[in-house]
Amino acid sequence: MDLDAQARAILANNDRGGYTVPTGGLYPYQWNWDSVFAAFGFAEHDIPRAWQELETLFKGQWPNGMVPHILFHKVDPSYFPGPDVWGGVGPVPSSGISQPPIAATFVRILLEADQKNGQAHARALFPKLMDWHRWFYNWRTENGAIVVTHPWETGRDNSPDWDGPFAAITPQGIDEYDRRDTHHVVDEERPRKYDYDRYLYLVKLGRECHWDEAKLREITPFRVADPTMTFTLLRANRDLRVMAQAFGEPTDEIDTWIAAQEAGAETLWNPEIGSYDCYDTRAGKFAGCISNASFLNWYAGVGGDRMLAHLQRIAQLVPYSVPSHDPASPNYEPKRYWRGPVWAMMNMLICIGLYEAGHVTEATRIRDETAQMIAENGFAEYFDPRDGSPAGGRSFTWTAAVWLGWAS
Ligand code: DGY
Repeated sequence: MDLDAQARAILANNDRGGYTVPTGGLYPYQWNWDSVFAAFGFAEHDIPRAWQELETLFKGQWPNGMVPHILFHKVDPSYFPGPDVWGGVGPVPSSGISQPPIAATFVRILLEADQKNGQAHARALFPKLMDWHRWFYNWRTENGAIVVTHPWETGRDNSPDWDGPFAAITPQGIDEYDRRDTHHVVDEERPRKYDYDRYLYLVKLGRECHWDEAKLREITPFRVADPTMTFTLLRANRDLRVMAQAFGEPTDEIDTWIAAQEAGAETLWNPEIGSYDCYDTRAGKFAGCISNASFLNWYAGVGGDRMLAHLQRIAQLVPYSVPSHDPASPNYEPKRYWRGPVWAMMNMLICIGLYEAGHVTEATRIRDETAQMIAENGFAEYFDPRDGSPAGGRSFTWTAAVWLGWAS
């Protein structure tokens, strides 16, 4: 089977009827940004199915506008923590946190690709996207940057970005638990127990206050401003604005959000390392980390070329860009999930921005490296930057989607 056919088969196999799981076993539910990438992959051969993916995701939207990071449509014991641990309060059993808000950007891409029915689908999703983005603005803004209350919210679960805030947390009152992820993937490629204890502690805090954002803001020790959320939301607001204009909707509110987030992006610039960085609002400290999310500034349309030198430096250190953590850092672990490996969908977002900024040589290099890793090693969840070898889950939806829609 050729690679395109393999990628389409992965989407088909991970399709659970209206939504797609990232990969069976390891992630057997609907994840938020995974689903958006799935929709992008489906759009290559089945536009109605692409829209359906997004429409199913928004069925889980909470009354306060939040769109959860996991929707537990059908309980599956192969994953922990499940719906009972989360105690989500939305219309579909769910987690209590969100995920990078890339949906508006991809709704715009689908709208442009679907001359026939795109308008109807995008118009129906538009007010839901507005409600979600408003939730971020109301509850998750610190000096314009977007903050998270759990590392899982950024998708970059065990990035060294969280080492500082995690060191200040003593997890208390969590029951014994049985991790299921390490039944599917070797320990060395997954977060440590130290991280899991803190993940579960933060879930407990949220559940105990019924995911009331006002209460959570008061009590949580973890409130970190993050480039993933800030840059993806800023980009998504720019795309939402284009759709608002096309639909004859007012743009004033979106303009307020864009202005706030442009200023917020600047607060994430850490002059000591000359990079966009996470900022721990509780400790009042930068993380001191250059991650692949630091390079989403072009995607967000901010910062000019101030990240270019780091991008070129890192390309000299590893054959496959863009590693999720700087290989020059002592905390770099090239096989351990978000502490080093390369992620195809992050590369695509980075390159969308690079192409738009005219950095065709850089973008083409990263795209070719992404295609090569996939062609040689299959549709893995992530890849080792030293040799492109596969790591984490296999037959992975977003890697297949990125192949179909972009890398091939
Ligand atoms: C996990 O369980 O590893 C997920 O990344 C949480 O979203």
